[in-house]
Formats: sequence, C-alpha cells, structure tokens
Amino acid sequence: MAFKERVFSGVQPTGNLHLGNYLGAIKKFVALQAQYDCIYCVVDLHAITVPINVWGGPKTLRENIREVTAAFIAAGIDPKKHIVFNQSQVSAHAELAWIFNCVARLGWLNRMTQFKEKAGKDRENASIGLYDYPVLMAADILVYRATHVPVGDDQKQHLELCRDIAQKFNNDFASSIAELGHGQAYFPLTEPIIQGPATRVMSLRDGTKKMSKSDPSDYSRINLTDDADAIAQKVRKAKTDPEPLPSEEAGLAVRPEADNLVGIYAALADRPKAEVLGEFGGAQFSTFKTALVDLAVSQLAPIAAEMKRIGQDTAYIDSVLAEGSDRAEAVAAETMKSVKDIVGLIRR
Ligand code: AMP
Ligand code: TRP
Repeated sequence: MAFKERVFSGVQPTGNLHLGNYLGAIKKFVALQAQYDCIYCVVDLHAITVPINVWGGPKTLRENIREVTAAFIAAGIDPKKHIVFNQSQVSAHAELAWIFNCVARLGWLNRMTQFKEKAGKDRENASIGLYDYPVLMAADILVYRATHVPVGDDQKQHLELCRDIAQKFNNDFASSIAELGHGQAYFPLTEPIIQGPATRVMSLRDGTKKMSKSDPSDYSRINLTDDADAIAQKVRKAKTDPEPLPSEEAGLAVRPEADNLVGIYAALADRPKAEVLGEFGGAQFSTFKTALVDLAVSQLAPIAAEMKRIGQDTAYIDSVLAEGSDRAEAVAAETMKSVKDIVGLIRR
C-alpha cells in the first residue's frame, strides 16, 4: 500500500539550540516544506526523561518550549501551511507509546547507544523514561504515519528502531489489519533523511566530539541566539591544525577540525564540500575563517534577531502551539481509532 507522504520531526526543548541542531535538522525542516506536508514538534515529553532540575526546572522548560517554537518560525517554518506544536498537548503520543511498549522487545532497547551514553555509569539511577525514549519517538512519528524524518546522524539508530516497531506491529496484527481494510501494512517503514555535509556537526573546541547542548564550554558551539560578535569570536577561536586547507576531500580524512569547519561552511552555503575545497584549497585557516564568519553571520544573525523578536510575544507563540496541537490531534485521533480496532480494544 502507498502511504501519503508526510514529514515529521522533533526537537527537544532542552536549551542551547546550536548550529548542529540548525544544520542537522531545522534548516532541512525549512527546505522540506516545499515538497511535503510537514509536522514539526517540540518534544517536551522527551525533555523530561533526564532530571529536569539538571537543566533548570519547570519555568525553564516552559521558556525552552517557546524558544524552540520561536526558532522554528524564525528559521522559516510556516506554522499556517504546516503544523508546529508541542508533544504533550497531543495525548495520542503517550498513548501509542504504551501500545508500542508492548510491541518493542527489551533486547532491541538494550542495544540503543544513546541510552548507554546518556545513562552513563549510574544506569540503575536512569529514569524508565530515558530507557523508553526511542519507543516514544517511534510513536511520535507513526501516530502521523509519517514517511520521512529529517534528523542528524545521532538519531539513525532510533529511526531503525522505529522501522522495527512498525514492521513488528504490521506482522503481529497482519490479519486484523487486512480484515479492517488497511491492506498489507498499517504503519509505513519510515525513511530517515540524513544527508549533506553537516549531519554531525562537531564541537569547535574538539573535532572528535559532537557539538552538544550540554557541553560546559560555550565556545564549543554556536548558539542560535548568538549575535554577530559572538559568532565571529567563536569561529576565530575554533580549534584548527597548522596546515593549509587541502584541495581534495580525501585530505580532510585525518583532520577532524578542518573537516568540521569545511562541512559547516558547505552546509551554510548549500554547496558540496568538494566545491568549497576547490575555492579554499591551499588557503590558510585565517583566510577561510574570515569567509566563514561572514557566511555564518549573514545566515544566522537574522535568525537570532527574529527569534528574539518572536520570543517576546508569548501569547503569539502559545497560540501557534495551541492551533498546531488541534490540527495534529485531528490526525493522531484517526490513527488511534484504527490502532485500537486493529489491536482489539473497545472504544467509543
Ligand atoms: P535534540 O536537541 O537532541 O532534540 O536534537 C534535535 C535535532 O538536531 C536532531 O535531529 C538531532 O539529530 C540534531 N542534532 C543534534 N546535535 C547535532 C549535531 N551536533 N550535528 C548535527 N545534528 C545534530
Ligand atoms: N530524539 C530526537 C533528538 O534527540 C528528538 C525526537 C523526538 C525526534 N521524537 C522525534 C526526532 C521524532 C524525529 C522524529 O534529537
């Protein structure tokens, strides 16, 4: 059966939105609007899988939810044409996650590397929610039967799990699915969209570490709220090596910092890395960084300014989320009806 093409993705409201979030995810969300119906979600229920006081508590969570919403709109997502909302306002996400909890296998979740990283050494003390995080993520996607999910490289394994859950649900309930007229499969096997030169943006201080919201050093990342001066300072201080830039991509293989900066430039400019090296191969980092500052400021400073402006209008942001939640809920409710029928639950 052919599924209606639909894009879904989510960003956690855990503060410090950065260039990795922008190039790995949000910039792609913006581009995909031209081709697909899109649903973009602030995944607040995922944010509370880590102890919320670690990153500020309930007041900060509310601010962060609004900040991600403002970033979506400032970057160019149109909440009228597409759907922008926060996860917790549509209870079907949590409801479908429970049904998927009964489909997913313990062995599958035990393989999730992000859980191992986030739980660290004190695994006994991690929340059940952190362990179950990928199942909720599958529910986010499949409650809209989304066919495409743009994400950064770090989410690849979670997208594979989403396909495994869809496949097992389709198999386990195959006869019920067919009897109810849904054909061979009720859930699509969702495709990740992980492409281009910046699917994994690295720290500006260490080219072997991922750029992350939780890095204690603010110089490790460019925040989406940084102004032109901050962007310039961080790029100038970014770690490099003593060699000039290579002319071929192969020359970046053992130079993580150079590779990262070239990837960032390429993604911001919408050009392949090879083309960027064609222009800057042989140049010193000082020259390349000057060009990178100009490019980054011209692309990011307007987003920061617009985020600030939109961020002041809390009532507007909350109305976008409320309206988006209504529209999302209408789609999700249809899925939940079918799922309940497929599974054999009695509903009103
Ligand atoms: P999160 O902040 O964890 O909710 O991530 C939101 C989106 O940004 C996800 O699609 C991530 O895969 C993506 N992302 C996060 N960090 C990076 C990074 N350093 N490079 C590329 N994409 C990233
Ligand atoms: N786990 C994703 C991240 O950390 C966020 C997320 C939650 C998500 N639900 C999703 C991304 C559904 C894509 C689709 O980045």
